[in-house]
Amino acid sequence: MRIGLLTSGGDCPGLNAVIRSTVLHGVKSYGDEFLGLRGGWRGLIEADYTELTRHDVRGIAREGGTILGTSRTHPYNHPGGGPEGIARQMKRHGIDAVIAIGGEGTLAGAKRLADDGLPIVGVPKTIDNDLKATDYTFGFDTAISIATDAMDRLRTTGESHHRCMVAEVMGRHVGWIALHSGMAAGAHAILIPEQKVDVDQICEWVDQVHSRGRSPLVVVAEGFIPEGAEEALAAKGQEADGRPRLGGIGEFITAQIEERTGVETRNTTLGHIQRGGNPTGYDRVLATRFGMKALDLAHEAAWGHMASLRGTEIVKVDLSEAIDGLKEVPAERYEEAKILFGR
Ligand code: F6P
Repeated sequence: MRIGLLTSGGDCPGLNAVIRSTVLHGVKSYGDEFLGLRGGWRGLIEADYTELTRHDVRGIAREGGTILGTSRTHPYNHPGGGPEGIARQMKRHGIDAVIAIGGEGTLAGAKRLADDGLPIVGVPKTIDNDLKATDYTFGFDTAISIATDAMDRLRTTGESHHRCMVAEVMGRHVGWIALHSGMAAGAHAILIPEQKVDVDQICEWVDQVHSRGRSPLVVVAEGFIPEGAEEALAAKGQEADGRPRLGGIGEFITAQIEERTGVETRNTTLGHIQRGGNPTGYDRVLATRFGMKALDLAHEAAWGHMASLRGTEIVKVDLSEAIDGLKEVPAERYEEAKILFGR
């Protein structure tokens, strides 16, 4: 087969490991040829590609980012796109199948194209871990380890100055990164969009810790809104696509804590460093297994499906499962972590 690979949406540590394993498995097991489509769906629509051999993917599993580049191009809205345009390009360039590696938006596009008759399979990716049809996505573990390391550092400077330290982490509309990195770093409060908490409660946790002579560490997910502060926060603005503006909530919480408790407080917005750099070993392995499974799915002609992690097994799931709303942090997971808040 001649297979096109594309990476679309925000980048994520592990994308290169998917590209590498797909190409190596395809060349060694099936005698496939590969085309690397540049800049997500745009590369497919505009036939902007490069041939990918086993030599091109040598050693890339350890590198962050994506050697193919990425974009948020929509396959139906881009000029020349849509099923007819894409089918024409695939025929002209002899592409038998496309493996689309991306998050919810990318997989929704892939599903729609597959429903419209195109030979497409998916690989789920996101640091946010918010895709329903898979237990974990690669990139998440790397983001956790970066955020945990950052909080360990915030703790030592916080302790030295007797300050409260606030760390704002990514996650878009869910709190997985905040929950896991906060638990790993032993944060005194974890604030996530799925759970309503008001500013009084946050200040109480901070006071409890501070009154024992310790420096409170608070982790807040970018999508968190304190109960009762919806209007005040609306003024902080949102991005055009409805996701929270980075830094907005961290700054807000920091100002509230300082004003109400009198404890000197500093905010750090971790931002895109959570998405950059080398993937962890776990993410490299997960991404590698996803890539190999997606290639097998293409050989099975399992169009409209993707690779997914269930327990320790990599399985096939329908793309419709992945795009059926977000996987939120369950209340019981939050309650479990909450037992250790304040202290
Ligand atoms: O979905 C991954 C993610 O990093 C979110 O956590 C964050 O809200 C968003 O992407 C940032 O997107 P951009 O890189 O376009 O600013």
